[in-house]
Amino acid sequence: MTTIIKNGTVVTADLTYKADVKIEGGRIVEIGPDLRGEEVLDASGAYVMPGGIDPHVHLEMPFMGTYSADDFDSGTRAALSGGTTMVVDFCLPEPGQSLLDALKRWDNKATRAHCDYSFHMAITWWGEQVFDEMKAVVRNHGINTFKHFMAYKGALMVNDDEMFASFSRCAELGALPLVHAENGDIVAAMQQKLMDAGNDGPEAHAYSRPASVEGEATNRAIIIADTAGVPLYVVHTSCEQAHEAIRRARQSGMRVYGEPLIQHLTLDESEYAHPDWDHSARRVMSPPFRDKRHQDSLWAGLAAGSLQVVATDHCAFTTDQKRTGRGDFRKIPNGTGGLEDRLPMLWTHGVETGRITMNEFVAVTSTNIAKILNIYPKKGAILVGADADIVVLDPKASKTISAATQQSAIDYNVFEGKHVTGLPRFTLSRGNVAYANGEIRMKPGDGKFVSRPPFPAVSKALSAWKEITAPRKVERSGIPASGV
Ligand code: URP
Ligand code: ZN
Ligand code: ZN
Ligand code: ZN
Repeated sequence: MTTIIKNGTVVTADLTYKADVKIEGGRIVEIGPDLRGEEVLDASGAYVMPGGIDPHVHLEMPFMGTYSADDFDSGTRAALSGGTTMVVDFCLPEPGQSLLDALKRWDNKATRAHCDYSFHMAITWWGEQVFDEMKAVVRNHGINTFKHFMAYKGALMVNDDEMFASFSRCAELGALPLVHAENGDIVAAMQQKLMDAGNDGPEAHAYSRPASVEGEATNRAIIIADTAGVPLYVVHTSCEQAHEAIRRARQSGMRVYGEPLIQHLTLDESEYAHPDWDHSARRVMSPPFRDKRHQDSLWAGLAAGSLQVVATDHCAFTTDQKRTGRGDFRKIPNGTGGLEDRLPMLWTHGVETGRITMNEFVAVTSTNIAKILNIYPKKGAILVGADADIVVLDPKASKTISAATQQSAIDYNVFEGKHVTGLPRFTLSRGNVAYANGEIRMKPGDGKFVSRPPFPAVSKALSAWKEITAPRKVERSGIPASGV
């Protein structure tokens, strides 16, 4: 069957033009005027864009004694209903567990996905087995990214020596390291101090993780990556200090990428001062929401190109799960939702306000990350030959965000009551209409794993430069005898 998206305006990361888009066999086969086909989707008054790619989600994540409530079923329904056609989750081996065994668990969970997906592999411990298995992960399992948590001491956190070893291994394999950048030692000490002083509410979560702690860790990760000769991707960049470290690194020629979340761009730390404990606990995530001035820095970074991607870190816990932390903020499961709201919130607060252009919107929600993850132009593009993962976005359609109408399985929404314009009219997943008129049309299992090859060009360039600039012994004609 051929499908035509008719009468729309194609918007990509670098072009805006009127054209129809023809789809066959799951791919885009023609772009141009007056195309004909069996199924016609009316895009009059709408923008035809690459479907969103969310590179940072945690579906059914085992974390802090529980599992995040949205799994690959409800999580990918939320994605499609919000115009996102691909998600990347994090495979988390337990300490001592084989990376390949952990991957089997994640493969199994993802069999219920409605949209395409991929995995990052987390390095949660270090040893010869991890070193060896990283090669198999890259070469045999289509995963080219390795995540490192610098926070969550005593759980997921790895130390500098382990990061340096892993980053060096990434350099050899042509893989990209990712970091959650917060100084976990300082956070743990501050948490204890706050608890000792009787500061046990959700606001103390934010007090224990100030922006400086994120800035320090971001800078440290950058230095470690530069020394290992590997690019770096910093997840959930939430503050000016972290952004500053990324800007500085990029100005000195390092390939460092930063990923603000839609939550940090639009919500601030006043959420933790709310008189209702549940309200504040539902917004506990790491890094925490910041003072508004940090939002200006993040928006500026997206416009200037020093920050490249807007993600969600979708990790949704119910109110009941959050209540595990009553009396001890350290036990509140960290994480918030956002998958369904990322595109409409960014359109409303970014494009509608003039902070970013439509083309920058496409770049930061889809195209940039497709390039960073090495899946461009299969994903992230409106080009002949690309997968027909498309969102037809109606800039006039609007709604008020409400938990009552969301796909996510949790009982609240951190954006509750926000009025947004710019909603998907259709979301297409490999050419199939996956979402239309409030209805999900894909089944669990329709989503497919997206294999991501390593980055031979970047690692070749970095290793060539590393070889040229390597420390060399100075050859001398003779060594003076001692004491003469
Ligand atoms: O609070 C958060 N961000 N929870 C999910 C795990 C992580 O740190 O990304
Ligand atoms: Zn596999
Ligand atoms: Zn994180
Ligand atoms: Zn995360």
